Amino acid sequence: GNQRLIDGQGRRIEYVRMSVTDRCDLRCVYCMAEDMTFLPRAQVLSLEEIERLAHLFVQQGVSKIRLTGGEPLVRRGIVDLCGRISGLAGLRELVMTTNGSQLAKLAKPLADAGVSRLNISLDSLDPEKFKAITRTGDLSQILEGIEAARSAGFKRIKLNTVVMKGRNADEVPALVDFALARDLDITFIEEMPLGDVGRSRGEAFCSSDEVRELISQQYHLLDSTETSGGPARYVRVEGYPSARIGFISPHSHNFCSTCNRVRMTAEGRLLLCLGQENSIDMRALLRRHPTTDAPLLEALGKALQQKPAHHDFNVNGDVQIVRFMNASGG
Ligand code: GTP
Ligand code: 5AD
Ligand code: SF4
Repeated sequence: GNQRLIDGQGRRIEYVRMSVTDRCDLRCVYCMAEDMTFLPRAQVLSLEEIERLAHLFVQQGVSKIRLTGGEPLVRRGIVDLCGRISGLAGLRELVMTTNGSQLAKLAKPLADAGVSRLNISLDSLDPEKFKAITRTGDLSQILEGIEAARSAGFKRIKLNTVVMKGRNADEVPALVDFALARDLDITFIEEMPLGDVGRSRGEAFCSSDEVRELISQQYHLLDSTETSGGPARYVRVEGYPSARIGFISPHSHNFCSTCNRVRMTAEGRLLLCLGQENSIDMRALLRRHPTTDAPLLEALGKALQQKPAHHDFNVNGDVQIVRFMNASGG
């Protein structure tokens, strides 16, 4: 539609990821340190503030909003918020990334509130390994959540797996079997170095090419040019007409030149790139200007000129971002 947000490199910003909380009921080893502290509630945007920002972005031509966390479904009032955002005129899709722990009860209400697609994290199908990766998670609860989502009427459900050698790389074929048997999409992600999680990220690094090779031993993969509007590159699987396998490869296949997104953190900082510390304090502007949008739009326009051309992550994590993933909007 009416596209107003164009960055300094000429990239159109059509996709906004909004973190509704930095809190989570899990403690995944790639996302958090073991002893994580969370933001005091007063520092987190109110639901009304999140809705106001969503409205503003959509007015500026954003067509896709993804709600993230932390875990978005631990935020009280989340279903009502989804209902209000999904109704915004001009929005093409409201989607969500979740760890699945609350889906047994919330999948149907979310679908009814207008969330059209879900991405659900699933790093292991082995209860012990799942526990080791998430530190606090219970695999059976997540599997129940996935089943609830499958019967709730979403357009498409995608599993997300962060692949780590020594933890879950050996499960790639089993995860593909699981997804294909249920007609789900699945995306394999290279770990990114956000926050000091107390371990060396390089040792566990597993490239998307290695993952693809593992899958190719069992399935015939067909290249594809389709996109879901995010960073994943997809392949199709011979004999399975609808499922897709995706690869998100920030290290091995940089996708920054086609970046179409920005993020809002739970405390209302606009992040132009996952791999950069700079942010704009939109919360201060929201609170200083409760009824006029012009100052917010001006700040947004200026910020887009600062969006970096690319991240500088490397596999060993020595260009490390201090901010953790749960505080970054996933
Ligand atoms: P689709 O709408 O299904 O394409 O989803 P998505 O891949 O955009 O969202 P999801 O929340 O499932 O994100 C999957 C992974 O991609 C997460 O690890 C994100 O951190 C990562 N990701 C998303 N956008 C970016 C980005 O701009 N840069 C980097 N480095 N990683 C990103
Ligand atoms: N690197 C890559 N992906 C990550 N995620 C969380 N932390 C990291 C990281 N350090 C993934 C989660 C979830 C998605 C939003 O981001 O598994 O699926
Ligand atoms: Fe929670 Fe997601 Fe981070 Fe895991 S990756 S700790 S589920 S926010």
